[in-house]
Amino acid sequence: MRVYLNGEFVDISQARVPIDDRGFLFGDAVYEVIHLYGDHLFAWDLHIERLKFGLQALEFPPVDLDALRQAAEVLKQDRDYEEGSLYIQISRGVYPRSHVFPPEGTKPTVVMWIRPVDPVPAELLAEGVRVVTVPDDRWSKVWIKTVGLLPNVLAKEKARRMGAYEAIFVRDGVVTEASSANVFMVRRGVIRTAPETNYILPGITREVTLQIARELDLPVELKPFLPEEMYQADEAFLTGTNIGILPITTVDGHYLGKPGPVTQRLLQAFMAKTKEVSSRLG
Ligand code: PDD
Repeated sequence: MRVYLNGEFVDISQARVPIDDRGFLFGDAVYEVIHLYGDHLFAWDLHIERLKFGLQALEFPPVDLDALRQAAEVLKQDRDYEEGSLYIQISRGVYPRSHVFPPEGTKPTVVMWIRPVDPVPAELLAEGVRVVTVPDDRWSKVWIKTVGLLPNVLAKEKARRMGAYEAIFVRDGVVTEASSANVFMVRRGVIRTAPETNYILPGITREVTLQIARELDLPVELKPFLPEEMYQADEAFLTGTNIGILPITTVDGHYLGKPGPVTQRLLQAFMAKTKEVSSRLG
C-alpha cells in the first residue's frame, strides 16, 4: 500500500514521521476522512474546504491543497476494492518540543493514504443501532477537526463496553453530536439536528443530508434537543463519512422502533448520491 508523505509516494513500510512531529507530541494537527465510493471521492470539495478553515483557525503555514487532489488521484490508481477510506493528516511540522509555534519556515507534515473498507452491512441499515449518552467533556473548539480525539476515543470505548454502537455527547443538557458522527432525530415528520456552533463538527454528511431533506421538501429544524426528547422521537439516525446515514433504534435503552420512513427516504437518496458522479460534490 502506498502512502503520500510530504510530496512523495512511499510504501507504508517506509512511511515514517519523526518523533518531534507536533502531531505526535501535541496533537497539533488537523485531519479529514473522505469516503471513496467506487472511483468517486465523495464530497471532496466540501472536505477540503473544512480542512482549509481548520488550517486557518489554527494559523498553520500555507499548504498546497491542490497537490492533495493530484496525489489522491495517484493513490486511487492502486484501487482493487469497491469502497475505500481516504485519510489526510496535516501537522504543524517537525521541531524540538516546545509549546510555542515552531519558527517560520517549518514545513507542515502532510500524509495521506487510502485503505479499503467494507460497505456498511445491510443488516445494520435494516436493524439500526443502539446508542448511549455520555457527558460531552471535550474542549470548546470541536468544530475544528483536530486529531486530539481522546474524549471521543474514551466515549466510543464506553459505548462499546455497554453494548452500544455509538456514544452521544450531551453538553449543558442537550445533545451535541456523537463520538464520530452527527446526530438527528425526527418527531411528527420534522427532522431536527443541533445547529452549527463551536460545540459540534460541521459534518459533511450532515450537510449533504440537510441538502437532501431540502430537495425532498422535508421540514428541518436546526435546534438542539434533550436526550429525553430523543427517547420520545419517532426516528433517529447518525450521519458520518464512515457510516453514511445510519438508523438509531435504541437510545439509553429506550426503543424507538425499526428505522422509520423519513430515515429510509433520506438513506435511499443518500445512497443514490454516492453513486452519482457529481462535480459539485466531488
Ligand atoms: N469523523 N462529529 C465528529 C466528532 C466526527 O468525528 C465526525 C466524523 C463527524 C461526521 O463528520 P463527516 O460527516 O464530515 O464525516 C461528526 C470521522 C469520519 C472520523 O474521525 O473517522
